[in-house]
Amino acid sequence: MSAPKKLLFLSGPNLQLLGTRDPAQYGTETLADLYVRAKARASARGAELDARQTNHEGVLVDWIGEALGRFDGILINPGAYTHTSIAIHDAIAGVGVPTIEVHLSNIHAREAFRRHSMVAPACVGSIVGLRGNGYPLAVDAMLDHLGALAKR
Ligand code: DQA
Repeated sequence: MSAPKKLLFLSGPNLQLLGTRDPAQYGTETLADLYVRAKARASARGAELDARQTNHEGVLVDWIGEALGRFDGILINPGAYTHTSIAIHDAIAGVGVPTIEVHLSNIHAREAFRRHSMVAPACVGSIVGLRGNGYPLAVDAMLDHLGALAKR
């Protein structure tokens, strides 16, 4: 039996406000609810998931930078840093741990400043606009991706 896959699910600024923050865009689930769903999906597939949130860009950069050798895959909703952070892009690209970007809202259907993701080019792929359903889907997508990498 191979070792359980370890996933790191990171959330950026203001996502601690989920539940009451702009429910028309983000739904009514709290971040704790979303992490319960993601962890349940990981555990159903024999994987482990460490879920964290910070409002600070440098903390996200630190956590990504420490992931090599500790985590097999990263799932990240960088919040507003999605649209501004070359540092998060470079951390993902630099560490080389497969990463999937997740957004609750459909960033392509919102204000022009949300339509561009700085981090997307460093990611395996993105899941956007599916509200909380995107969180367990991202876990599935990452575990499928890691399984496919292992067969190469
Ligand atoms: C978000 C979209 C971002 O534009 C926004 O700044 C967020 C949440 C999302 O999950 O839809 O904080 O990442």
